[in-house]
Amino acid sequence: MPDIESIIQQMTLEEKAALCTGEGPWTTTPIPRLGVPRLVVSDGPHGVRHPMDVNQIGSLSHPATCFPTASSLACTWDVDLLREMGEALAEECNALGVGVLLGPGNNMKRTPLCGRNFEYFSEDPYLGGELAASLIEGLQSGGVGASLKHFAFNNQEYQRFSISAEVDERARREIYLAGFEKAVKQGKPWTVMCAYNKLGGTYCSEHHWLLVDLLKEEWGFEGLVVSDWGAVHDRVASLQGGLDLEMPGPRPKRVQAVIQAVQDGVLDEAVLDEAVRRILKIVYKAAETPKGEPFDQEAHHAMARKIAAEGMVLLKNDGVLPLRKGLGRIAVIGRAAKSPHYQGGGSSHINPTMVAIPFDELQQQAGDAELLYAEGYPADDAFRQDLIDEAVRLAQDAQVALLYIALPAYKESEGYDRADLDLTAQQIALIKAVGDVQPNTVVILNNGSAVTMGEWINHVNAVLEAWMMGQAGGGAIADVLFGKVNPSGKLAETFPVKLPDTPAYLNYPGENGKVLYGEGLFIGYRYYEAKQIPVQFPFGYGGSYTTFAYSNATVSATSFRDTDGLTVSVDVTNTGAVAGKEVVQVYVHDHKSALVRPHKELKGFAKVELQPGETKTVTIPLDFRAFAYYHPGYGQWIAEDGEFDILIGASSADIRCTQTVTLQSTQVLPSLLNRESTIRDWMEDPRGKVVFGPMFQQIAAGMKQAMGGDMDGSEMIGIDMMTMLMDMTVLSILYFQEGALPAPPEQVVDGLLQQVAQLQ
Ligand code: BGC
Repeated sequence: MPDIESIIQQMTLEEKAALCTGEGPWTTTPIPRLGVPRLVVSDGPHGVRHPMDVNQIGSLSHPATCFPTASSLACTWDVDLLREMGEALAEECNALGVGVLLGPGNNMKRTPLCGRNFEYFSEDPYLGGELAASLIEGLQSGGVGASLKHFAFNNQEYQRFSISAEVDERARREIYLAGFEKAVKQGKPWTVMCAYNKLGGTYCSEHHWLLVDLLKEEWGFEGLVVSDWGAVHDRVASLQGGLDLEMPGPRPKRVQAVIQAVQDGVLDEAVLDEAVRRILKIVYKAAETPKGEPFDQEAHHAMARKIAAEGMVLLKNDGVLPLRKGLGRIAVIGRAAKSPHYQGGGSSHINPTMVAIPFDELQQQAGDAELLYAEGYPADDAFRQDLIDEAVRLAQDAQVALLYIALPAYKESEGYDRADLDLTAQQIALIKAVGDVQPNTVVILNNGSAVTMGEWINHVNAVLEAWMMGQAGGGAIADVLFGKVNPSGKLAETFPVKLPDTPAYLNYPGENGKVLYGEGLFIGYRYYEAKQIPVQFPFGYGGSYTTFAYSNATVSATSFRDTDGLTVSVDVTNTGAVAGKEVVQVYVHDHKSALVRPHKELKGFAKVELQPGETKTVTIPLDFRAFAYYHPGYGQWIAEDGEFDILIGASSADIRCTQTVTLQSTQVLPSLLNRESTIRDWMEDPRGKVVFGPMFQQIAAGMKQAMGGDMDGSEMIGIDMMTMLMDMTVLSILYFQEGALPAPPEQVVDGLLQQVAQLQ
């Protein structure tokens, strides 16, 4: 790495301004005079979309492995696997000459309607953060930078270029930013990509709090912030807001505006220098990795197949799966069996090195069984009864029916949201018709986000969620259907019963340019649990061909200090007849908190592989943050004294063991009492109680006397006076006694507050 400071000193203002905007759609601006190379970036996230012509934004890309998309990856709950995939992506980037891969995406799945959910991991920030961090670590270990995106609050595609997300501070911190925070602190991505949308009225590309105060200063992000493609509106404002690199280029007028702003004294050159410094660091870091070594296409295809299988979730199985060998005739129904739907539309679209055709893969593993094929549904929205009739005839004539159902590509893509959560009318009718004539009917789904199933699920015997499974997914489906791979995927997002049940339903998609995140902290399972709304399949759920028993749950300490955290252990036994993998999930439930908290939250997990009869002890650490929540009053994460349940389970709705522990807080927090604090606030605050307690006794006594000794007041005015009193501010009580006070009520309260401050 050359001496960056000396390069900056030699750069002209023009060169600095030029460096902060791309040279072309996929390259930064080189400075040959000073030997500064160009950096090549490519989409991302689940493959390398490196254009054959880097000067064109929409050029056909070089062949690269199309790995499964993020919704599939997340269901593996396997951080090691994601690290491996990151390493493979780095090899491909290096082969193709790419220095930074534009991914992973780690926006939370606020609504299943978001067209881009297939590119995101989860509705849970802990899970998303862990997975993103691992992928980044793997990628960057190969000398290729990640670009964690889209920072932040890009939780819908509807009006993504302009809409303002209105999100309260706790939901920001605990839900939408927490996954980014983990990925930034742990994964240390070289770059972070800002989102198109606004947050609280300010474009993310100009958002100083988001990009500087939080990301760079509080979280210690040392890389560069790049704009999403075309997210910059005002280049000078964006530099001041912490956006280092604008993409795509060229944008000569904007470069000129930056030069002008420095010359006019509107933009401090130190701000420009800081952006230049961050860009140069990454440009040179990327240049350190040798390029051009070809990658092993077959090996990566095999890896993509393994990952795809690990991400598949067995949602229903009455015993029909795994399929027996020598089945006689298998009716393979559905276009997706021959034209697989394995990735989504938009910037992440990969030109695959090869594609496994599900039908052919099935054939390879089906032994002597005869495979029959019917299209089942057309490529478009048309309703074709003839296709259904043909499929039914085939199914009647077979021992089992496999329905390959892919949500049509046009329904789910970058750039727009879904209109509903349903399969097409044709697909629903097809599934019901086939399921009704064939007692061994299996549905295999390809989609990027939750779909509703209420209309058809009772007509079929098994459902395998195969997601947008990447180029090798066709083989992975066959592996799972025939039991070569025992499914172990667990849902990283809840499958609701119906759209109106979903958390953001009343606040989506927003109006007048704003979308209010009115459900606050309560997205995904946090919402369904709080509202006691039944779901089709809960977060963390997924079936297997074996069964697992949980026993001997223990904690390292039943009473612990917040700073020490603790570890949870549990024995997991494979109680079935085949080897399998279980994802052990640890949720934390706070018995009592000053502010509202979700009933339980995921704070740890581990995936364990077990042979039949085998038992392994799984140990999961829980740190301060596992117990903490963000308190806007204190402006920090706090973990309060008291009891917590540690819930160990096979899904969010299937808790197998519970341990109760007591946390002792070591935090010294200032009092939040102020002039508007209620009597309850004063009496519940340890220091407030000491200071205000004696006065409270007097007030209560005075009140009792005024009520003729009847404190519940029911005879006089029919209310419980004491309860009412507790919700009054001290100030408002003192107003009633103003005449008898030695000083104005405000001064009396301020005096009390001073006494509290002295106790701290
Ligand atoms: C997408 C990004 C992508 C970029 C470059 C944008 O439209 O939102 O995710 O990396 O284009 O293709």
